[in-house]
Amino acid sequence: MTTASEAPDILSPEFAMDPYSAYRAMLDTAPLVWNEPMQSYIVSRYEDVARAFKEPVYTTNNYDWQLEPVHGRTIVQMDGREHSVRRALVAPAFRGNELEQKFLPVIERNARELIDGFRDKGSADLVTDFARHFPINVIVDMLGLDRDDQARFQRWYTSIIAFLSNLSQDPDVAADGLRTRAELAEYMIPIIQHRRENLGDDLLSTLCAAEVEGTQMDDEDIKAFVSLLLAAGGETTDKAVGSTFRNLLDHPDQLAAVRADRTLIPRAFAETLRFSPPVHMIMRQPAEAVTVSGVSIPAGSTVTCLIGAANRDPRRFANPDSFDIFRDDLPTNTAFSAAAGHLSFALGRHFCVGALLAKTEVEVASNQLLDAMPDLALAEDAGPVERGVFTRGPASLPVRFTPVS
Ligand code: HEM
Repeated sequence: MTTASEAPDILSPEFAMDPYSAYRAMLDTAPLVWNEPMQSYIVSRYEDVARAFKEPVYTTNNYDWQLEPVHGRTIVQMDGREHSVRRALVAPAFRGNELEQKFLPVIERNARELIDGFRDKGSADLVTDFARHFPINVIVDMLGLDRDDQARFQRWYTSIIAFLSNLSQDPDVAADGLRTRAELAEYMIPIIQHRRENLGDDLLSTLCAAEVEGTQMDDEDIKAFVSLLLAAGGETTDKAVGSTFRNLLDHPDQLAAVRADRTLIPRAFAETLRFSPPVHMIMRQPAEAVTVSGVSIPAGSTVTCLIGAANRDPRRFANPDSFDIFRDDLPTNTAFSAAAGHLSFALGRHFCVGALLAKTEVEVASNQLLDAMPDLALAEDAGPVERGVFTRGPASLPVRFTPVS
């Protein structure tokens, strides 16, 4: 095993600037690292990360301290029957008819409204004018909450993500997360109580009415899940839209192929998830000792799984550092299911509930953006500006185009 003094330090500014060369070094020579400041083992190889996601011995008890203080108890921490019942309560709202019939029009409307803000301007920032707002607006609208409160939700989700990503345990960030929990509860609980008496066609009503094997969610459960959705569905899809367009703009031939054949959008999204995932690391806590690279990791340890590294493991993907939507080692038909080749939605029982919603959002956004911007290109001043260590994506994406008359 390698210690942090010998391996790349994932808390360093150099790592934040360019995690990918550090990933390569870890994949080659340091597949298991002990990081003293984080008090965590770090694994990077595809096989080790996939195993940690799939094998039940790797619990998600780490969310007891990573997320519960800010959300309350949610599905990501649960296991066994408690998890499968909770999953059955929430999952139907994010797939099939519910998604296609009820929420597709909501997604289309929210994309259109944001694009209307810049479609005749000839220039835009696809992150600050679009991606940062789109998924959060969609969730607020799906839940049937007041669209005038979108700015509040934006602030809350930024605070929740900062809490989750607080690898260096900054006390101000932690205090702000706790404040958000109190504010969100004060806002949501009366709305949930009112909605129970006035069920409608929205996601919040579906959650209030859902029942599996005699179990329903109480007000606190629903408030905690809404809080989780803001972070899980907002930040991630924001980064996914930004990175998909950044990758395509960096590869104009692939952008032209997608523009000409829109059925390639899911391929471009799947390859973006592999090449530049929105979530770069996820933690696990083994219930019993596990062995990785010949070293025994004690029960109860924190294991940080580097998704961003595993997705570029040359043992799994050919030319892993090239963005190639036509690669033949990442099938698109499984990329949004628990049989995915990339690890960006995790695998196993906590596989992302919102994967199909995210795919639909990226498809709608990409189609509408490409239609509105026929000669879309990066603006001259668009530098390489990926930001973030826990979650990562372009901080801005200035583009120019000729408006459609
Ligand atoms: C590209 C976009 C997205 C990415 C990369 C992503 C990533 C992930 C990952 C890595 C996990 C597993 C966490 C773990 O096992 O510790 C997860 C779980 C989850 N995601 Fe997503 N997510 C995305 C979009 C969404 C959306 C749009 C929603 C819903 C609005 C959502 C809701 C959830 C929920 C509720 C879970 C917990 C599932 C469980 O514990 O059983 N995600 N997501």
